[in-house]
Amino acid sequence: MIRKTTPEQAEKVNAAVDGRILHLKYIFYIYPIKSLKMRYLLTAGMLIICMFTNLEVMSQQTDNDVLTIIHQRKSVRQYQDISVPEDKIETMLRAAMAAPTARNIQPWQFYVITSREILDQLAGELPYAKMLSQAPLAIVVAGDTPKGNPNEEQIHNWKLDCAAATQNLLLAAEALGLGAVWTGVYPYKARIAAVSEALDLPSHIIPLNIIPIGYPLLDDRPKDKWDAEKVKWVE
Ligand SMILES: Cc1cc2nc3c(=O)[nH]c(=O)nc-3n(C[C@H](O)[C@H](O)[C@H](O)COP(=O)(O)O)c2cc1C
Repeated sequence: MIRKTTPEQAEKVNAAVDGRILHLKYIFYIYPIKSLKMRYLLTAGMLIICMFTNLEVMSQQTDNDVLTIIHQRKSVRQYQDISVPEDKIETMLRAAMAAPTARNIQPWQFYVITSREILDQLAGELPYAKMLSQAPLAIVVAGDTPKGNPNEEQIHNWKLDCAAATQNLLLAAEALGLGAVWTGVYPYKARIAAVSEALDLPSHIIPLNIIPIGYPLLDDRPKDKWDAEKVKWVE
């Protein structure tokens, strides 16, 4: 009946359902009222309140539905000149750190850059991240490569783990009404050197990407990438 998406939404749904039941409970108090007109009026009022509570719940379910956000996400490369509040930055970082990681090692570090000077410097040095000069914020997702004492095969896992974190971060940005784009740093030596130097990173921390983030300037649209040809059924 009710599709739950997040615990917060489930909480709201439950609260709203409780609210509706509470509203309807008062119907019993209406019956002793002698005036028929008054009874109709109060019953109609209560039903309207219930209807609006229901509509609010439905809109919360669809606005933040995880599949809607996945399909709405797109690379956004132009931003308004407005800074991103810290609570939204934390929400994105929390989403990033909720990603799955091999052996649950969480081999990452996140660098939150709001320094205009550093953003502009990196815009000048990274050929495909010029939009940093317009962005009020960027987050570097970097691998803490020795974390978890990886063996020869596990040594590559940080890239996969950080990629999963990056996707979560991008989805959170979308859900918060922000625009963001993954710009590649790893595996390009010159880009890794530029970011490492700008952020003074120790050699075991390797930047995977840098994500400029801001409020979208334009009305960017997601691409439709569905391709049935790329699906092979094994039955
Ligand atoms: C590993 C990786 C590296 C990327 N590097 C850049 C980049 O350096 N600059 C850029 O503008 N976009 C970069 N992108 C974004 C892609 O261009 C974008 O995701 C792709 O065109 C699909 O568009 P969409 O994100 O709107 O679906 C990168 C994406 C990935 C996954």
